[in-house]
Amino acid sequence: MSDSPLLIDTQDGVRTITVNRPDKLNALNSATLDALHQAFDVAAGDAAVRVVVLTGAGEKAFVAGADISEMNGLTPVEGRDFSLRGQRMMRRIEKMPKPVIAAINGFALGGGLELAMSCHLRIAGDNAKLGQPEINLGLIPGFGGSQRLLRLAGRAATLELCLTGAPVTADRARELGIVNRVVPAAELQAETMKLAGQLANAAPLALRAMIDCVNVGGECGIEEGLEYESAQFGLVFSTDDMREGTGAFLDKRKPAFKGR
Ligand code: COA
Repeated sequence: MSDSPLLIDTQDGVRTITVNRPDKLNALNSATLDALHQAFDVAAGDAAVRVVVLTGAGEKAFVAGADISEMNGLTPVEGRDFSLRGQRMMRRIEKMPKPVIAAINGFALGGGLELAMSCHLRIAGDNAKLGQPEINLGLIPGFGGSQRLLRLAGRAATLELCLTGAPVTADRARELGIVNRVVPAAELQAETMKLAGQLANAAPLALRAMIDCVNVGGECGIEEGLEYESAQFGLVFSTDDMREGTGAFLDKRKPAFKGR
C-alpha cells in the first residue's frame, strides 16, 4: 500500500481519505481516480464508517486539478475515457449512502473543484482558491464541473468561472453557494471533524434518505420529487432509529442511533 496515492484513516466512525501527491499539488491522475473510486466503494460498504471526510495532503492544495502531464498525451478517445473515469468516480461519491464532506485546504482547481462539488458538504479554509481554469489549457471541465457548478451556483457563476478560468476566494465561493462554510485555515481540520462528529452521531438511515431525496429531487419535477420524499419519509418509519429518536425526545434524553 506504500505507493498508494491516498492516505486512509478512521476514527470514531469518521473515515478520512487524503489525496496524497503533495509534490504535484494532489493532481488527479488515472491511478488516483481509480484509488478514490475503490476507497469510496469500501467506505460505502463498511458499517463502521458513518461519515467520510475528503481532503488533500500538504499545506497548499486540496487538489490542483486533473493531471495535466497525463492529459497532454491523450488521444480524443482516451480523453473521453479519462473524462468518464473521473465522472464515474465523482458520481460514486455523490451517490454515497453516507455524508461526504470536502475539507478544502488550499487550491481546488479544475478536477479539484469538481471533486469537491461531488461531495455533499464543503468547508473551505480562508486561504482556499477555487476555480475551473481548464479554458487556459484549451480545455473545458470534464469530470462533471460544467453540470455540477451549474446546479450549485447557476448559469452566471458557471459561465464566469469556466469562461474566464479565474479562481475565486473562499469567501466569494461561499457567496456563490459553492461552499457551505469558510473557516480560518488553521481551524479547518478541527471544524471539519466537529461537523463530521455531529453527522457520525446522527441517524444513518435518515441521512441516507435525505441524500437520496436531494440527488433524485435535483433532477426531476416537483411532483415526482414530493412523491419520492413521501416514500422515503414512510421508509424511515420502519427504522429502530426513528423510534429511538422520537422516543428520546419524549423521554427528554439524548438518542443513540444504531443505523437500523
Ligand atoms: N497536473 C499536473 N501537475 C500539476 C498540476 C496539475 N493539475 N498542478 C500542479 N502540478 C505540479 C506542477 O507541475 C509542479 O510540479 P514540478 O514541481 O514537478 O514542476 C508542482 O505540482 C507544484 O506546482 P507549481 O505550479 O510549481 O506550484 P505554484 O505554487 O507555483 O502554482 C498553481 C500553483 C495551482 C497555481 C499551479 O500549479 C497551477 O496552475 N496548476 C494547474 C491548475 C490547473 O490548470 N488545473 C486544472 C487542470 S484541468
